[in-house]
Amino acid sequence: MAKLWGGRFSQTTDKRMEAFSASIDYDQRLYAHDIAGSIAHCLMLEHQKIITSSDAHTLVKGLEIIQKEIESGRFTIDPALEDIHMHIEHRLAEICGDTAKKLHTARSRNDQVCLDIRMYLRDETQRILHLLHQLRQVLVVLSEKNIHVIIPGYTHLQRAQPVLISHHFMAYYEMFTRDADRFKDAYRRIDVMPLGSAALAGTTFPIDRAFTANLLNFKEISQNSMDAVSDRDFVIEFLSCASICMVHLSRLSEELILWSSKEFNFIELSDAYTTGSSIMPQKKNPDAAELTRGKCGRVFGSLISVLTLMKGLPLAYNRDMQEDKEPLFDTIDTLKACLDIYCHMLPEMKLNKKQMQSACESGYLNATDLADYLVNKGIPFREAHHISGKIVQYAIGQGAEIHELSVDTLKQFSDVIDDDLMPLLMPMTMINQRSCMGGTATHQIQKAIEHASEILQEECTNQ
Ligand code: ARG
Repeated sequence: MAKLWGGRFSQTTDKRMEAFSASIDYDQRLYAHDIAGSIAHCLMLEHQKIITSSDAHTLVKGLEIIQKEIESGRFTIDPALEDIHMHIEHRLAEICGDTAKKLHTARSRNDQVCLDIRMYLRDETQRILHLLHQLRQVLVVLSEKNIHVIIPGYTHLQRAQPVLISHHFMAYYEMFTRDADRFKDAYRRIDVMPLGSAALAGTTFPIDRAFTANLLNFKEISQNSMDAVSDRDFVIEFLSCASICMVHLSRLSEELILWSSKEFNFIELSDAYTTGSSIMPQKKNPDAAELTRGKCGRVFGSLISVLTLMKGLPLAYNRDMQEDKEPLFDTIDTLKACLDIYCHMLPEMKLNKKQMQSACESGYLNATDLADYLVNKGIPFREAHHISGKIVQYAIGQGAEIHELSVDTLKQFSDVIDDDLMPLLMPMTMINQRSCMGGTATHQIQKAIEHASEILQEECTNQ
């Protein structure tokens, strides 16, 4: 096949080279954005009288036909045509003849490809924000529904202090809210129009970049043509946002995996999101959570891939940059799939409230509260901590919990201890005593839930 760039070549491209350099297998997903970008470019050329209205009309019609062909599966792919840009331009020539050759005036594939990625990534970022919104909503609903359920809070994976499970869920709400914030911030730098940078130095034609940007709904226009065609910071930023979000999904996965084990027995995941074992009939495996945890590998890998890809590139465009797409696309698919699974799996999870409650009642989770009690009776905290520690040590020896010891026994460790201590050692009291802002007390968590609901509602109306 004759190449669109074949003028200065006398030999044909080796088949191996064609296969090696083709990106059509994966960049065809940019087709709709490529066509929308070309139509806008074409209208700008017409507006600036660089091409005639009749040519512009022919080109736009041709591009629309191609879009329909692709969407109905009637479009032929040929690796010899390298990428989606060449495929569309080649087909346009078949449809509109010589007029097609005018479309690429004042444009290069270098600014075209980054236009396409930016437009595509704007849409995908919106989709991810939507999924994150849904997931945050799920966490808020779970928190509301289970506001009286308690669970041990852990540090070092050792039982530490009782908390509301809603506090735990709302911690993830905070993480995913920061993720959404990061994606929104990254969006500002995705939303910059590079078209008009041409190959690297701009163009000799009297183009109107603001006109094209306006048609394509871009907030900003790139300021330096050399930077514009060689910038992939926005891809790196996106991958970094995705990586952090995957860290959060993975931590949540790890907890669900632990919680659904016999050892914890805090939750039961729905049959719909678990699998059985081909050999052990009793097994119900938390595969969705494990796969999400496992998929971090490819997402972090993608970030490292594109960072490495870019680090040694001289200005401006280099073909290396074609390698930005697979990691980016894979990350988008992976993150969306994980978010979607979580939006559906979490509401169906069953909480084993009894088990969570009884886990709060053993393991000396009230030792801090005992120390705090002593402080309130005038003992300095470090000393109080020591006394409480001694009591724990004694209780362990007795095979008992602190609240199972009599007040008389406890008095032997400190004579300030009295009957008023006992209610303070009950999990729900301990929880509600922690009423500082951000603490686990019921009314604080209720406040956090209300605040989150308002934010989610606002986000809906602003969309
Ligand atoms: N497929 C190429 C890419 O993704 C498009 C740009 C090609 N530009 C070039 N000068 N060969 O980067």
